[in-house]
Parts: sequence; structure tokens; C-alpha cells
Amino acid sequence: MKKSLLLSLICAALLSLIAAPVLFAADAPKDDYVIKAPEGMKTKEKDGKPGALQKAVPFPHTKHATVECKECHHTMEADGGKIKKCTDAGCHDSLEARGKENAKDIKLVENAFHTQCIECHKALKKENKPTGPTACGKCHTK
Ligand code: HEC
Ligand code: HEC
Ligand code: HEC
Repeated sequence: MKKSLLLSLICAALLSLIAAPVLFAADAPKDDYVIKAPEGMKTKEKDGKPGALQKAVPFPHTKHATVECKECHHTMEADGGKIKKCTDAGCHDSLEARGKENAKDIKLVENAFHTQCIECHKALKKENKPTGPTACGKCHTK
């Protein structure tokens, strides 16, 4: 009995040693991290001319410590802990400007980020919990 318990404890310890580097494959970036529009991002036309890109968006990971990594990085479990860029090929990789036809297309960079960031901040605001910005100019600051 005792011997088998010891053995399983050793096994568990060894397993956690093997599993740990997979679970913590990539540390979250520091809080000076800024999310920029991907290269080639198109903008809505205004008076026949292409409009300007929005300013970039600072994203502090430590302010989101109450949210599990995989809630935002929703492909990491399936990828064995590997974290992809949201705009990687095959993911949210449509660089089109948002218009009538693609207003709900989650492949669109703008829709992917706005759905995740703004919906969570709004929901928390409703519940009177600490939350993040919901106004354009409070996120697009850089
Ligand atoms: C909670 C933060 C947040 C809020 C609020 C927010 N955005 Fe964004 N938005 C982002 C992020 C993150 C991206 C992806 C990075 C980027 O493209 O700048 C993005 C991308 C975009 C893009 C596509 C690319 C670009 O940079 O031009 C547009 C257009 C945009 N947002 C417009 C708006 C407008 C208009 C509002 C207000 C109605 C708004 N955003 C509110 C976070 C936010
Ligand atoms: C509230 C949402 C959210 C949570 C929670 C979150 N992240 Fe992120 N993380 C992001 C976003 C958005 C980006 C920007 C991705 C991009 O630009 O494509 C990012 C970027 C990253 C990057 C850089 C990816 C790259 O290639 O540039 C790493 C690494 C990362 N996060 C790790 C983590 C880890 C580890 C955790 C958990 C401790 C975590 N994140 C929790 C939203 C989140
Ligand atoms: C699942 C919920 C959730 C998601 C998704 C989320 N946030 Fe937040 N965000 C929070 C919470 C909660 C806070 C408030 C933390 C606090 O003040 O303790 C916050 C705070 C912030 C702040 C304010 C930080 C400060 O200095 O006060 C910024 C900026 C922010 N979020 C940006 C973003 C962006 C950009 C995204 C999308 C890439 C995003 N958040 C996605 C929950 C979320």
C-alpha cells in the first residue's frame, strides 16, 4: 500500500514537471504591450478617399489577471498551449474595412477585437464591477 502511494506521488511529481513547460509556454507580455492594426489594414472611404487608421490600442495583461488566458486565447488549449496572434492566417485575417456586407463577419480584425474587448467591458459595467473602457477614444489612444 505505502509503496504504491509513494510511487504514484513520484509519478504525479514527474508528470507535473513534464506538463508545466507546456502550460506556461509563453508568459503574458508586459503592460506596455500595444495592439496595432495589422499591415495592409484597409480603412473606410470618406469623400472618395481612404480614411485614416484608428490609433493603436494599449492592452495591459496584468489588469486582466482575473480572466483565464484561454478565455481570450481561445485556441491555445487545442494548440497545446501555443499562443497565436489573433490575425494569423486562417484566423481573424480579413483586412477589409467594415461595411454593410461584412458587419457581422468575425474574420474581420475590427469585429474580432471589438466583440471580445467591448462585450466583456460592457457586461461588467452592467454588473457594476471593475471594468475597462467602452468608448473609442479610451481604447484607441496610441
Ligand atoms: C475596448 C477597447 C476598444 C474600444 C472601446 C474600441 N475599439 Fe476599435 N479596436 C480595438 C482593438 C484592440 C482593435 C485592433 C487593433 C487595431 O486595429 O487598432 C480595434 C480595431 C478597430 C478598427 C480597425 C483597424 C483600425 O485601427 O482602423 C477600427 C476601424 C476601430 N477599431 C474603430 C473603433 C471605433 C469607431 C470605436 C468606437 C465606436 C472603437 N473602435 C472602440 C479596441 C477597441
Ligand atoms: C482579456 C483577454 C486576454 C487575456 C485574459 C490574456 N490575453 Fe494574452 N493577449 C490578448 C490579446 C488581445 C493579445 C494581442 C494578440 C494580437 O495582437 O494578435 C495578447 C497577446 C499575448 C501574447 C503575445 C502574442 C504575440 O505573438 O505577440 C502572449 C504571449 C500572451 N498574450 C499570453 C497570455 C497569457 C500567458 C495569458 C494568461 C496568463 C494571457 N495572455 C491572458 C488578450 C488576452
Ligand atoms: C473577459 C473580460 C475582459 C475582456 C475580454 C477584456 N477586458 Fe479589458 N478589462 C477587464 C476588466 C475586469 C478590467 C478592469 C480591471 C481592474 O480595474 O481591476 C479591464 C480593464 C481594461 C483596461 C483599463 C486598464 C486600466 O489601466 O485601468 C483597458 C485599457 C482594457 N481593459 C483593454 C482591453 C482590450 C483592448 C481588450 C481586448 C483586446 C480587453 N480589455 C478585453 C475585462 C476584460
